[in-house]
Amino acid sequence: MLNIALPKGRLGEKVYAMFENAGLECPAIHDPGRKLIFENEEKGVRYFWVKPSDVAIYVERGAADIGVAGKDILLEYEPDIYELLDLDIGKCRMAVAAKNDFRDNPQKTLRVATKFANCARNYYSGLGREIDIIHLNGSIEIAPILDLSDVIVDIVETGSTLKENNLRVFEEIFPISARLIANKTSFKFKNDRIEDAARKLAGEVEKNSKKS
Ligand code: PRP
Repeated sequence: MLNIALPKGRLGEKVYAMFENAGLECPAIHDPGRKLIFENEEKGVRYFWVKPSDVAIYVERGAADIGVAGKDILLEYEPDIYELLDLDIGKCRMAVAAKNDFRDNPQKTLRVATKFANCARNYYSGLGREIDIIHLNGSIEIAPILDLSDVIVDIVETGSTLKENNLRVFEEIFPISARLIANKTSFKFKNDRIEDAARKLAGEVEKNSKKS
C-alpha cells in the first residue's frame, strides 16, 4: 500500500483529481460522509484527508509515505522530508500587508501579526529589522485594523480579503504552490512506487500547463 496524505478542503479536491487522472484512483473517496481514510486495494493506494497544515507531520513521521503540502507549510515548519514535485496548483504568495496609509518607522520595533512566525522571523532577520511577533491562528487581517500590529505576514491569493479590510500588500516574500512530498524512509523502501507516482503526476502538471 502507498499511503497518501491529502490536504482536506478545496485544494485537496484538485490534488485528488490529479492523482485520479494519473491512474491512482480510489472511487470510494467520492462517497459523501465523514470518513477520512479511503483505500483501493487493486491500485494499492490508501488516502487520508488531513488538515493542510498537518500533511507534512504525517509524512515526516511516516504515517503517510507521500502527501501534498503548500510551500508555505514547508518553509514554516521545515519538516525533514523530500520535496519531489511542484504540482503548480494552489498558487498564492506570502506577503507583508498593512493599512493603506501605513508608514514604517525604522527606529521602532515592528509589530508583526502572523500564523507564520518562522517565515516572518526569517524574512525580517534577513533585512536586519527588529520585530515583535504576535502569533495568531486566523483572521490575521484584523490585527492592524485594531492596532494590535503594524503589519501582517500572511497568504494572499486573490487579494480580496486585504482589499475588503482596507489593507494592501507592501512586500511579497515568496510564491507558494502545492508540492508533492515524501517520507525519507519510504522513498528508499517504496522507491519504485513513489517515483512512478511522481512521474505520472509530473505528466498531469504538464497536461494542465498546456490547458491554461
Ligand atoms: C487565507 C489567508 C487570508 C486569505 C487570503 O485565510 O490567511 O486571510 O486566505 O485569500 P484572498 O487573498 O483570496 O482573499 P484562510 O481562508 O486560510 O483563513 P484564516 O483566516 O483562518 O487564515
